[in-house]
Amino acid sequence: MPKRRAFGSPAGRIALLHALAHIELNAIDLAWDIIARFSGEALPHAFFDDWVGVATEEAVHFELLAERLADFGARYGDLPAHDGLWESAAATADDLLARLAVVPLVLEARGLDVTPEMAATLERVGDPESAAVLRRIYCDEIDHVAAGVRWFDELCRARGLIPEETFRKLVRRYFKGELKPPFNREARAAAGFPARYYEPLLRGGVPLLRG
Ligand SMILES: [Fe+2]
Ligand SMILES: [Fe+2]
Repeated sequence: MPKRRAFGSPAGRIALLHALAHIELNAIDLAWDIIARFSGEALPHAFFDDWVGVATEEAVHFELLAERLADFGARYGDLPAHDGLWESAAATADDLLARLAVVPLVLEARGLDVTPEMAATLERVGDPESAAVLRRIYCDEIDHVAAGVRWFDELCRARGLIPEETFRKLVRRYFKGELKPPFNREARAAAGFPARYYEPLLRGGVPLLRG
């Protein structure tokens, strides 16, 4: 993957918007995948309703970014894109709790950590339109993390597991990257995702134990 250029130039902004559009496209697939892949499990209707709602919002996000790319004369598919999100889906294909731990609670929560700064930078370099798109996405993503925590906790309790401990065990086992502070504790808390779940993964300066 070529290194993303600074946001100040149109090329840099195209690269950023393209990378984000790629994430949203994967997010659409991931939302439908959790519905289809785990439909055989005894889950309430509300579970599937939540992920249909997420899929719909991810499609809106993709559209907003695609429209903004078009403003710059670019479109999705113009640049190469990584496969990391889909690899996470494959790695957690057999375990719903692992899927929830890795996708909404690590990857989407990471979006909450980095998006405010990206939006502020876009504003600073004179691109309030792109900043507004990112802020809209950010608000919706708090709800996606919230849905992840809600179902993670509920399924843990139904299985007699302690949610915080189970989260850390699954992240160590299934998430191949590293958790990257600083965390947006405020947004994560607004999603009902307390620091006691994820901060112990950083304890002792060890970014993340692999297991
Ligand atoms: Fe999204
Ligand atoms: Fe999302």
